[in-house]
Amino acid sequence: MEVVDDKSSRTCCVDYDGRAKEVEEFSKTKAGVKGLVDSGVEKIPRFFIVPPEILNNAPTKSSDDHTSLQVPVIDLGGVVGILDDDGGRRRAEIVNQIRVAAETWGFFQMVNHGVPKKVMEDLMTSTRKFHEQDREEKMKWYSQDVSKPIRFYSYGFLHTSAPANWRDSLACNFQDSDLQLQLLPQVCKEEMIEYIKCVERVKEKLSELVSEALGLRSEYLRELECMKSRYLLSHYYPVCPEPELTLGVTNHSDPYFLTILLQDNVGGLQVLHHNRWVDVPYLDGALVANIGDLTQIITNGRFKSVEHRVLAARGGGRGGAGPRISAACFFYPSSAMKPYGPIKELLSETNPPLYREVHYKEYTTLYVSKGLDGSSAIPYFHL
Ligand code: OGA
Ligand code: NI
Repeated sequence: MEVVDDKSSRTCCVDYDGRAKEVEEFSKTKAGVKGLVDSGVEKIPRFFIVPPEILNNAPTKSSDDHTSLQVPVIDLGGVVGILDDDGGRRRAEIVNQIRVAAETWGFFQMVNHGVPKKVMEDLMTSTRKFHEQDREEKMKWYSQDVSKPIRFYSYGFLHTSAPANWRDSLACNFQDSDLQLQLLPQVCKEEMIEYIKCVERVKEKLSELVSEALGLRSEYLRELECMKSRYLLSHYYPVCPEPELTLGVTNHSDPYFLTILLQDNVGGLQVLHHNRWVDVPYLDGALVANIGDLTQIITNGRFKSVEHRVLAARGGGRGGAGPRISAACFFYPSSAMKPYGPIKELLSETNPPLYREVHYKEYTTLYVSKGLDGSSAIPYFHL
């Protein structure tokens, strides 16, 4: 009798016959990945299967191993909202920690950042409520149209052949100062408004600290207006019946300037460091910050936009049972048509520009058309 190895026959995902139809049917349900899970699927649809060369592109270093490397944790206490009284020593120390983290990891966790715990908890709870509400109610928000400021969707790259991700997202995009807060879904409106207000203050502080870490005036990045807009993406990662075959988010770097992320205690976020996947563990009360592609470009490669990914949520283990919830707040420029290139003050004869100037719209358009295929968009802008 011929034995069919089910796993290996299910490993190929890219551009198979019938993919487009399967994707369309999935999208038409408007119920996202949670809809699939609720309908009781035991095998994930083929377009979610990530090829092994992407899945196993680096060994994993678990944070359970205490000798392992750890994403830097930076205590912002004493600098967020409180005037220094030590001649700036504390501030200089924090600036230096940010510089080292941005140059080596591209990631750091922040504690004592000034966002009240209740505000963070409320955002997580209300995000869960949004994703777990009645399907009919949630479907009203479903859209694959990226120009919609507020929308619910499942994976924004269904138009590409890149494997889909085991997650649903609620995107709230506020360009410039235009918060359009009245447009937010009722179930998470208050909580999001409060969180955005608070996280905006953290961004302001980081903008100063990152400027100083580059040896520039504190106001430099603020005046560059590169982080005037915000895009809050609240993710829901349902428990996956075959978590070893797919990912919650395929490895990618973030296309904007700065990301501030709030994650719950389920775990699964990993960052690529020295060619290893290192866990970014849940840290009570912390926010995660990471450098985006456009910051790598304006710092002429000094601050790194580092690849990261999220494992598909499992039913148990890894610190807690899924579903996993997180909220990423991306900061990007105002709508003004301004291109961004390496900052002149950072360039010299020995440090010539590595990248050409790019308007953020051009950057994100390329990023979206490429899809999350496991490769970076930055090389397209190399000189
Ligand atoms: C992202 C991202 C990580 C997470 O949205 O770009 O990397 O933990 N999210 O949800
Ligand atoms: Ni990301």
